[in-house]
Amino acid sequence: MNRHHWWRDAVIYQVYVRSFLDSTGDGIGDLAGVRAGLPYLRKLGVDGIWLSPFYPSPQHDHGYDVADYRDVDPVYGDLDEFDRLVASAHRLGIRVLLDVVPNHCSSAHPWFRAALAAAPGSPERARFHFADGRGPDGGEPPNNWHAMFGGPAWTRVTEADGRPGQWYLHMFTPEQPDWNWRNPEVADEFDQVLRFWLDRGVDGFRIDVAAGLFKHPELPDSPDPEADARTRDSVNPLAWNQPEVHDVWRHWRAVCEEYTARDGRERLLVGEVSVPSAREHAKYVRPDELHQAFFFDLLGAPWDADAFRKVISEAMQDIAGTGSTVTWVLNNHDQVRTVTRYGEPAPEGSGLGAARARAAALLMLALPGAAYIYQGEELGLPEVVDLPDDVLTDPIFRRTGSRARIRDGCRVPLPWSGQASPFGFTSGAEGAKPWLPQPDYFAEYATHRALADTRSSWHLYRDGLQLRSALHQLGEGTLRWLDTQPGVLAFARDDLVCAVNFGTAPVPAPVPGTPLLSSGPCRSGELPGSTAAWWIDGS
Ligand code: GLC
Repeated sequence: MNRHHWWRDAVIYQVYVRSFLDSTGDGIGDLAGVRAGLPYLRKLGVDGIWLSPFYPSPQHDHGYDVADYRDVDPVYGDLDEFDRLVASAHRLGIRVLLDVVPNHCSSAHPWFRAALAAAPGSPERARFHFADGRGPDGGEPPNNWHAMFGGPAWTRVTEADGRPGQWYLHMFTPEQPDWNWRNPEVADEFDQVLRFWLDRGVDGFRIDVAAGLFKHPELPDSPDPEADARTRDSVNPLAWNQPEVHDVWRHWRAVCEEYTARDGRERLLVGEVSVPSAREHAKYVRPDELHQAFFFDLLGAPWDADAFRKVISEAMQDIAGTGSTVTWVLNNHDQVRTVTRYGEPAPEGSGLGAARARAAALLMLALPGAAYIYQGEELGLPEVVDLPDDVLTDPIFRRTGSRARIRDGCRVPLPWSGQASPFGFTSGAEGAKPWLPQPDYFAEYATHRALADTRSSWHLYRDGLQLRSALHQLGEGTLRWLDTQPGVLAFARDDLVCAVNFGTAPVPAPVPGTPLLSSGPCRSGELPGSTAAWWIDGS
């Protein structure tokens, strides 16, 4: 059953366009670069790609501040190049997902400019959340909400007469005003945006901040503003996860189905859903809503067998219970890379982080459901932790008073070849500089080197992906936990057994014989520390 739903067990590769491959020599990756990299991705064996936003944007948040939802920023190419990319991807059997950003736009978006120019109470302002301030002269924000990237969620504007005026809401940076989804014009506009790209042949959308969009209609104070300020998770119950958002996903799903009915090609909606529990999460993937929603609890789990088992079991129970499959993620462009995350607090140079990242990848690929891989993870790239302050571009860094160095270190441009930066990333003349500096040690991870070395992470991913397709629908069905000693997880999927040793000392293997595939050297009968392996259980 369900075999025609390609997305249920798809493995999608996230292309962070700025940092993938630069075809123009300006040190910034672009769409033509992505097209040139497609054969590499085909070799790796992924089913599709998700492209980070490439729309015209002032780049305050690298494209998550969209000034025009229907075009390509000249830094990344143009619509013709986009069409060529989609055509080439499809010729290679690779599906293409776009990143759509419906919670907010850029302060440079024409509708927001029009709102600034218009008077309080005007239809132009009603597309956003404008409100009068509190306190004497309206000098205090309308409520106590915090922005996700630091500071208050409100910014005051100057009215046409030059006086300080109303405030507007922005759950991220001031350059990203939130849309007012209670205004039907906003919903209609996004309906048209989806159709614009679907007409150009895309296979679906990754939806940014998919638990956002609606706010409590009265915009009341948050019950616990301190908690909201402490975390990057969307915890303010009045600003996130409002019930009305589900109607939007039902509508978007219907739009996708309309296109499928025309040509039989199933389109995919995958939501970036951050909500408090797996049960809440499951609501987003009910049969008439999103096809998928990233299950971030796996990404958030510490390197610990019990923690992994708990989040996997919850996902299987709550999400798979909706009839959808779980969408597993271990990394993305907002997170510290797995090699570095799992390496802490291991002693530097112990190799533990790298071994654990490989094991986690093999575990993820054995789970029922779909999986997303962030670019560079297949190379085993570590986080670049020592970027100098003056090159950091993540708005979180500036907005938290330079405390949070979170998201630049995983966005450093990929190394492709050679011994020195730019490692083949940019086609530019000698000395062309990638937009973030690449460390010398990136040479070890270059794709050319990884392809030539059968022990590389790249080969592990490639072999895992190949076996996954060969092993009859590994992405469907459920899993059965096997009894193991503490610190080890093992589960069976029909006759495939996957086991992971979270400890550092070897343990007896749960299945006799040599594994089909393992994340590190593995002798028959034994599972070394920080290693995952797959066996076919013939017994
Ligand atoms: C999502 C994106 C992140 C962006 C934010 C605001 O979390 O993944 O990169 O900064 O939304 O759009």
